[in-house]
Amino acid sequence: MVDELRNKVIEAVRDYYSQCCREDKEFTYIPASGKLIGIEELEAMVQASLDMWLTAGRFNNQFENEFAQYLNIKYALSTNSGSSANLLALSTLTSHKLGERRLKKGDEVITVAAGFPTTINPIIQNGLIPVFVDCKIGTYNINADKIEEAVSEKTKAIFLAHTLGNSFDLDKIKSICKKHNLWLIEDSCDALGGEYKGQKLGTIGDIGTYSFYPAHHITMGEGGAVVTNDKKLYDIIKSFRDWGRDCSCPPGCDGICGKRFSQQSGNLPFGYDHKYTYSHIGYNLKITDWQAALGCAQIKKLPEFIKKRTQNAEYLMNKLSDLKEFLILPEIQEGAKPSWFGFLISTKQDGLKQQLVEFLEKNGVGTRQLFAGNILRQPMIVNNEISLRIGNSKIINSANLTEEHYKMLPNTEFIMNNTFWVGVFPALSYKELDKTSELIHQFFKKL
Ligand SMILES: Cc1ncc(COP(=O)(O)O)c(C=O)c1O
Repeated sequence: MVDELRNKVIEAVRDYYSQCCREDKEFTYIPASGKLIGIEELEAMVQASLDMWLTAGRFNNQFENEFAQYLNIKYALSTNSGSSANLLALSTLTSHKLGERRLKKGDEVITVAAGFPTTINPIIQNGLIPVFVDCKIGTYNINADKIEEAVSEKTKAIFLAHTLGNSFDLDKIKSICKKHNLWLIEDSCDALGGEYKGQKLGTIGDIGTYSFYPAHHITMGEGGAVVTNDKKLYDIIKSFRDWGRDCSCPPGCDGICGKRFSQQSGNLPFGYDHKYTYSHIGYNLKITDWQAALGCAQIKKLPEFIKKRTQNAEYLMNKLSDLKEFLILPEIQEGAKPSWFGFLISTKQDGLKQQLVEFLEKNGVGTRQLFAGNILRQPMIVNNEISLRIGNSKIINSANLTEEHYKMLPNTEFIMNNTFWVGVFPALSYKELDKTSELIHQFFKKL
């Protein structure tokens, strides 16, 4: 009876979809990114509604399992955004459960300034000191040759994004981490499905993070994930995600851990309910089962999505290759198989990017910056008194940053001034990419 009624609802949903939702989109404005969802996603969300479970439930279990399987990693935990995933990843490294390797206030984390704010914010939010190293033009990732000179006695971790799907130099960075006993967090929010020497990005360092915001490779509306192969880190991530609690029993389930009334923690009385024992200053960053259901439908399409993104990027690369006199095109990191989030372009001549971006936008092609550009110039940094270092500098108060400091990151400055990106997401066909390419050609012909 229940199944029959469910089937009726789903039939009606399919009917609605076929009559009311157009899949073959004609773009009047070509966006730089966007979601690609169909009847499977709508059906999954309706199924989750009919369950009326609301919080993370069967779809979340399915998603976490399938995601871990896809990445070939032991543990995956869903979370409500990529920013939350980053916050969880870094907060995890501050846990007392890590003993000597725990990150303490004033410890340093190496990162870059050309990126997304919420790769850096968790460093600041946890009372740690971000240390900024310059990038390479072409890959737009950290210049790994400059990392060691920035390492100090206080340096405990490296936290970097794989820029727009193209891996950073993992061999070199892993070996620096090993030599200096540093943690490595791979922000893979823009790089789902990308690989380095046959391994999926996000699974090579200690912790990997992902975003499922609609612009990303798959979407949950809002959503993210944190992954690791380390059981201890997994337990800590889960604790920080789930209010800081010590117990790993899922919501609604009691006594699975077998320790409910049988231990003494903190200064609590012996046998105090483990369900209400908190070992970390945690958050609640969990997802709902609607989000998870959407994720379950999307992950099935991920290989196809990545194939299309790869084809689109290769197509644009070919189409623009005759403009190398004017443009720097993306450079693939040796050993990497990118899963492109967007297609990065730099103008060789200073002062042209703004004009080109405005020309493209005016003619219906969406453009994006490499996020914060040089984040050290952002109001969030200059209007707050943040302790930071640049390369091997002493500690600088961000309110005192000057042009001399910015000159210490010349390629980051170049990226802010000369670099932007256009879309390659799977909803775009060669027709849209032809328009993007033709407009760029037109722009340089008129110079
Ligand atoms: C590299 C990187 N990290 C983190 C995030 C944050 O993800 P979310 O928007 O899901 O919070 C983004 C967002 O696009 C990103 O590009």
